[in-house]
Amino acid sequence: MITERAYTVEPWHVRETTLDLDVLAQSESVFALSNGHVGWRGNLDEGEPHGLPGSYLNGVHEVHPLPYAEAGYGYPESGQSVIDITNGKILRLLVDDEPFDLRYGRLVSHERVLDMRRGVLERTCEWTSPAGSTVRVRSTRLVSLTQRAVAAVAYEVEAVGRPSRVVIQSELVANESLPEPNGDPRAAMSLRSPLEQEDGFASGERLRLVHRTKRSGLRVAVAADHVVTGPGRTTSRSESGIDVARLTVTSVLEPGHTLRVEKLVSHGWSGTRSLPAMADQVDAALAAASHDGWEGLLAAQREALADFWARADVEVHGDEEIQQAVRFALFHVFQAGARAEQRAIPAKGLTGSGYDGHAFWDTEMFVLPLLTHTAPRAVAEALRWRHNTLDAARERAAQLGLGGAAFPWRTIEGSEGSAYWPAGTAAFHVNAGIADAVVRYVEATGDLRFEREVGLELLVETARLWRSLGHHDHHGAFHIDGVTGPDEYSAVADDNTYTNLMARQNLLAAADAVERYPDEAQRLGADEEESAAWRDAAEAMNIPYNDELGVHEQSAGFTRYQRWDFAGTRPEQYPLLLNFPYFDLYRKQVVKQADLVLAMYSCASYFDDEQVARNFAYYEPLTVRDSSLSACCQAVIAAQAGHLRLAYAYTTEAALMDLHDLEHNTRDGLHIASLAGTWMALVAGFGGMRRVLDGPAGMSFAPRLPERLRKLAFHLQFRGRRLRVEISGDKTTYTLLEGPPLIIEHHGETVTLETDEPAVRTVPPLTPRPAPEQPPHRVPKGL
Ligand code: BGC
Repeated sequence: MITERAYTVEPWHVRETTLDLDVLAQSESVFALSNGHVGWRGNLDEGEPHGLPGSYLNGVHEVHPLPYAEAGYGYPESGQSVIDITNGKILRLLVDDEPFDLRYGRLVSHERVLDMRRGVLERTCEWTSPAGSTVRVRSTRLVSLTQRAVAAVAYEVEAVGRPSRVVIQSELVANESLPEPNGDPRAAMSLRSPLEQEDGFASGERLRLVHRTKRSGLRVAVAADHVVTGPGRTTSRSESGIDVARLTVTSVLEPGHTLRVEKLVSHGWSGTRSLPAMADQVDAALAAASHDGWEGLLAAQREALADFWARADVEVHGDEEIQQAVRFALFHVFQAGARAEQRAIPAKGLTGSGYDGHAFWDTEMFVLPLLTHTAPRAVAEALRWRHNTLDAARERAAQLGLGGAAFPWRTIEGSEGSAYWPAGTAAFHVNAGIADAVVRYVEATGDLRFEREVGLELLVETARLWRSLGHHDHHGAFHIDGVTGPDEYSAVADDNTYTNLMARQNLLAAADAVERYPDEAQRLGADEEESAAWRDAAEAMNIPYNDELGVHEQSAGFTRYQRWDFAGTRPEQYPLLLNFPYFDLYRKQVVKQADLVLAMYSCASYFDDEQVARNFAYYEPLTVRDSSLSACCQAVIAAQAGHLRLAYAYTTEAALMDLHDLEHNTRDGLHIASLAGTWMALVAGFGGMRRVLDGPAGMSFAPRLPERLRKLAFHLQFRGRRLRVEISGDKTTYTLLEGPPLIIEHHGETVTLETDEPAVRTVPPLTPRPAPEQPPHRVPKGL
């Protein structure tokens, strides 16, 4: 496990000062670089030792049959798995005939630093070989945010104390051997040697490999070019073979002299383009990268990040660790989506193969809200990807006997990849999440072209799904029966409140959009009659409530179930999903992750403050947080209910999920939704940011700081404006940094913001409420 001292606490860097081979796989995830298209895990330059080698290209996957002991109608037949593509980051080193391998010899020092402003991973180390030769190695690595096909490494070796003969082998390697899977269902099903070579090329300082996946038939091309700088007698030679292309550089270094290799790597893939076309594509990308050169790429990277931080930075005063963690979170979420361009944003981004590289509802409900206010272009791209998969979703709906589109629970290319229907197909709420992301994006950007071309159809097809999935009973009430909400410890339940409220918003948003775009709607076959039926369903939506307890039901009848035996559950029996049958979890009151509590955030206008407080107090002792998606939602609602210490403890949990490896599976990749949740906990929790559906204000704030923080400031983009919100003690300052006047709400008061005049408002005092309890052994740390 990563210890709390694994990384030093600094505002803009994540620094590891020693190399701990036991947590190599975890640090490879933490130090992963990506632009959403290419992802390189933080593997050591030499390739070995490694925890999990990983180079990914968004969308490149292999398919495999999904085995069922007892098959049934409509079960997906094939699954998709992300694959480790050709590794372009390897630079092996030989020092006086001995491989530079940190498992041997003496490691004098080893430091790695993720620099979140420059967007690079830097490494410096000094090593003495078993035979006594000492070298210093420095490397800097980036995955370009400005040239999406490109990644690059600058690798430098210096002889120390005495002359050394050094050989650097810069390689492209395909079909790397991967460690055995560990049996955790959340890890990837690793596919052995998924690539078949079609072409290998090496000439001068250029290398190229083209492969094809065996079953999915995707062509993957990776090429590299080099700039070598060394003393006079430096020689180089290149060659290519099966699954490898290599440039070998040899030099004899006097003490204090260095050999430097700058390696530019380009990537491309396609399901349709020919071999020569793919070879040309990666060569052209290399030409573009070489044109800028290493220094040019570095400068552009820094500029891209400066722009991002100006829109996105969150300042936390009073807790340096959370300051670092929120920037780490923002950095990785941005990396995951920045250049994904009409591909999915997977649950792990491109940082590991966990969950087989699948994208879930995590994208729309956790990741896109952050990007909507910090990098909105990435949101439009992510939703265009969903739009591109509409045919598969319509086919799936038809197969299930439903109307509209049924988007998959988990997928890479758009078809359903879940082999477990109770928590896959039945989790229809993913559709409402997509609709919600469309509405939120359009509200926040005013991008009407997107709404007309992409948003409308997504809203219409998802509304059709809800209308066909639910039914009016004989009193007229609309029910959606037999579905699974966010809490995966309940399944196939009737009238899940989160699902119903989200479906309601989806139906109303679709009806409004049809009114706004009657011509386009007509082309989709949607008319007034159909949208009237959506409005009827929305208005009659059944939301189960227990009058006696005065709380909303997570789903119909939930509060009647037997409570889970929390007292009899031992700490090591969490997560429950690895130790108890689903059958038993499903029939008890036990909540894996925020469900009704999430509804109170995502459908905030439906609940008043009293209901929020009562519901939270009821669900809190039932919620075990066996999903990393939970703590951030609980943080938001705990803050709204006035439990600021508790909210802070949950914020901390979400923030440190990966930096402290709290769920012991950071090795498989980062928890991108929980990272995004850190932002959500701070901005929607302590900043109290909500959308305002009616009235002149676009968003409202109800800021309130926990004792631990002196100050919290965040930046948001909204309707062409840039806004800074700074909460300090009981004062909040709203500064419009750019754009025309903006109307917001502060604790219910309407405030008009103009660029030349920051508005300062006081935070009203809090009504204290008794703090709710958590299940035994599930109290968040720091409480
Ligand atoms: C959660 C899901 C989530 C998935 C991927 C599961 O443990 O229960 O809600 O979508 O992980 O992050």
